[in-house]
Amino acid sequence: MYSYKPKTVEKIVIRDFNFDFPDDTDPIWIPGQRVRSHMFNGLSLTMPYLEPFLVKTGRETAQHVDSEELLEDIRSFCGQESQHYKCHRRLNDVLRANGYPEFEASEAYMDRAWKNLSRASLEKRLAYSAGFETMTNGFTRWLIKKRKSLFQNADPHIASFWIVHMIEETEHKTVALDCYMAYSGRYLPRFLGVFHGSFHVVGHGLRAMMVALKKDGVLHKPSTWWELTREMASMIYNVGPFLLRALLPWHDARSEKDPAYMQMWVKGYEGMPAGQKIPLIDTQHPDMPVPFRGAATDEAFGARQAAE
Ligand SMILES: [Fe+2]
Ligand SMILES: [Fe+2]
Repeated sequence: MYSYKPKTVEKIVIRDFNFDFPDDTDPIWIPGQRVRSHMFNGLSLTMPYLEPFLVKTGRETAQHVDSEELLEDIRSFCGQESQHYKCHRRLNDVLRANGYPEFEASEAYMDRAWKNLSRASLEKRLAYSAGFETMTNGFTRWLIKKRKSLFQNADPHIASFWIVHMIEETEHKTVALDCYMAYSGRYLPRFLGVFHGSFHVVGHGLRAMMVALKKDGVLHKPSTWWELTREMASMIYNVGPFLLRALLPWHDARSEKDPAYMQMWVKGYEGMPAGQKIPLIDTQHPDMPVPFRGAATDEAFGARQAAE
């Protein structure tokens, strides 16, 4: 029998994702890192198909949920995911215009894939959603912990967008799993959903990445495959443990600790005057600190971050 447990954050805040992507944005937005740039571009392409699917699944689940707290979480979850995919769509349009019209076919393929998936049972869609959300929580840890090696000197608009997107993923990390537990709770479909939700999205992202690398004429180069191996190893090493822990029958996203950087960012945003643009993370700064005044020099934060 499902009963709501308090989540790790006080509130799931719906923020205006007002990131700008200038017209002349280079799709190779991480200097010297073609494969990594296209890996994230490929994942970005999936979002306007995946995230509306999550929102629809969440809204449908709400009809079966009694808990007022969970209903409130579902509303916030849907609000956040809607902001994400609209912003990804704006970024994807710029990427496509700046050298990759081939992405149109990739997107058509994704559109069909998620339309097909939306015909599955609600239990299966929820297990998939919970599995995917487990992975994004791992992505938060990966992107924050490795932000310097991943995004140093990268385009600050895209790097900040990805990091802030993942911060919100951690903020709402409990919602999809709570929905699954409230609706079904059966172990086996949830177990399978961990693989389905993460591999399906990453698979589509990597397929689009290959389209871009083919366009760039670098698919035959050993250096491309070496880079790709390195990126995959880093992703598996950093995100894999989150998936493994999610396979445990007693798994609850609440037991995954929220990174200090994420908590600091959430606190910093709270103090921001309404209507302002979300500040960009300085990718040229050696520490790429949380972009709110005081945060970079906060000693307690520095110590907590070092301990992570
Ligand atoms: Fe999202
Ligand atoms: Fe999410």
